[in-house]
Amino acid sequence: MAGRGALQLVPMTLDRRIGTELGGYRIVEQLGRGGTSVVYRAEHVRLGRPAALKLLTPALGEADFRERFLRESKLAASLDHPSIVPVYDAGEADGLLYIAMACVEGSDLKTLLLHEGRLPLRRTVRIVAQIASALDAAHARGLVHRDVKPGNILVGGDDRAYLSDFGVVKELASNGTTRTGSFIGTIEYCAPEQIEGRDVDARADVYALACVLYECLVGTPPFHRSSEVAVLNAHLHAAPPKLTRAAPDLPPALEQVVAKALSKSPLDRYGSCGEFVAAARAAAAERRVYRGRLAVSLTLLALAVGLGAVAALAVRSLAFEGGGTSASAPAPPPQPQPSLYELLLRSEDGRTLNDVAFALISAHDYARALPFARKAMAKAPVGSSTRGYATFNVGYALLMLGRCRESLPPLQRALVIEPKPLHRYIKPLVKQAQRCVQRAASARAPTRSAVGPRDPSPGR
Ligand SMILES: Nc1ncnc2c1ncn2[C@@H]1O[C@H](COP(=O)(O)OP(=O)(O)O)[C@@H](O)[C@H]1O
Ligand SMILES: [Mg+2]
Repeated sequence: MAGRGALQLVPMTLDRRIGTELGGYRIVEQLGRGGTSVVYRAEHVRLGRPAALKLLTPALGEADFRERFLRESKLAASLDHPSIVPVYDAGEADGLLYIAMACVEGSDLKTLLLHEGRLPLRRTVRIVAQIASALDAAHARGLVHRDVKPGNILVGGDDRAYLSDFGVVKELASNGTTRTGSFIGTIEYCAPEQIEGRDVDARADVYALACVLYECLVGTPPFHRSSEVAVLNAHLHAAPPKLTRAAPDLPPALEQVVAKALSKSPLDRYGSCGEFVAAARAAAAERRVYRGRLAVSLTLLALAVGLGAVAALAVRSLAFEGGGTSASAPAPPPQPQPSLYELLLRSEDGRTLNDVAFALISAHDYARALPFARKAMAKAPVGSSTRGYATFNVGYALLMLGRCRESLPPLQRALVIEPKPLHRYIKPLVKQAQRCVQRAASARAPTRSAVGPRDPSPGR
C-alpha cells in the first residue's frame, strides 16, 4: 500500500519494530502511516497468516479511549462484508493499542489518485459502488464510519475495493483531521453536521462518499481550499462546485446527483449510499443523449409549434376577413390553447420524444417525463437503441416516482434489450425496485414486521 515507494525505504530500515513481535504478530515491513498511527505488514506467529497491523498512539488524557477503542473494534470485527477489511484482533501490547486486520494487496485510493490522476467515470462508479454497499451494510448495523476518505479505501486487483478503519476511534486529532467535540474526521470529506459537532448518521457517510466520488472524477476534493479554516467554512457555507465546470466531459445529469449528496442538510441528501450510487449510475447512463442533438430536436419542435401558431393565426384572420365579418361581429369564445408539453407530446418521432423525456428526467420532472418516455417506447423501432433507452427511461421515471412495482417490468426489459456494457447501470436499479417492492409488501403486513426480525442489511 502507500509507503512502499523508494522514498520510504530510509525510515523503514530505521524502524526498530521491524522483526519484533507484538500481540502475537511478527512485524515485517511498514505499509503506511496515518496522523497518529502506523500500519505494518505482519504475520501471525503461530498461524503464519499475513495481516496488516495498525498501531495507534492514544491521545493523552483520554481516559476512556482504550475502552472505546476495544468496544468499537469489537463492533467492526462483527461486520462481515466483501468490501469491508476484516478485523482479526484488537488489543493493547507494550503500551500501544493495536488492531490486526486483513492485508489488502494493492494501493489505497489516495495513492492511486496521486499516481493516476483523475479516474474515468466507469471506474470511479465501480469503486464507489463497492464502498457504498459496505457502508449501507454497516449503517444497517447502526455503525457510522465517520471517516470515509480515499486513504481509507483500499483498492486491490481487478479494482476490488475495501473500506478500512471501521470502528477505529475517530477522536485522534492529527494532520488533516480536526477535533470538534467528540468527533474527528478528515476535513476535506467532512459533513457540515459533523463539523458542528451535531449528531451524525448514515448521511454523513453519504456526504463523504460524494466528496470521494467528486475527487476521483475531478482530481481534487469538492471543497478544497488553501487553509483548514477555509475548507471548514466551505463545507458549512459554500455551494457545491459545479462538477461539469471542473470536468466538462462528464454527463450533465451527474451534477445534480453530486449536489444532492453534498447538501448542507442531511435531510436533503440521499437516504443511503446505495441510493446515491444508483442515481450516479443512472446519470452516467444518461450520457447517451447528446446535448447537441437534444438542443436541435427541441429547437425544431419549438419552431414547428411557432409556425403552426402563425399558420393558425393567418387562417383565422383570413376566415374573419373573407367572411365579411366586421368589428361588430361577436368574437368566437377563446379556445383553450394546448401547452407546449401537449404539443411536444404530439410528435410521432421516438427519438424526439425520448430526448424530451431525458430533458425532463434531468430536471427531476419524472411525472411529465413519463408520457414522453412511454410514447417514445411505443414509437421507436423494435431493436433500435432509442427503444432500449426509452424503455429504461420509463422504468427509471416510474422508480423515481415511487411506483416500484410498475417500474420493474420496463427495467427488466431494458436489461434484456440494452447492450451488455450498460447492464451495470441498469442492474442496480432493478435491485432497487425489487427492494422497494419487498419493502412495500412487508409494510402491508404489519403484524409480521412488528414482531419479526429486521433485515440486518437491506442495503446489500
Ligand atoms: N488493511 C490494510 N492493508 C494494506 N494496507 C493498509 C491497510 N490498512 C492501512 N493500510 C495502509 O496504511 C496507510 C495508513 O493507514 P492509516 O494509519 O489508517 O492512515 P490513513 O487512514 O489516515 O491513511 C493507508 O493509507 C494504507 O496505505
Ligand atoms: Mg486509515
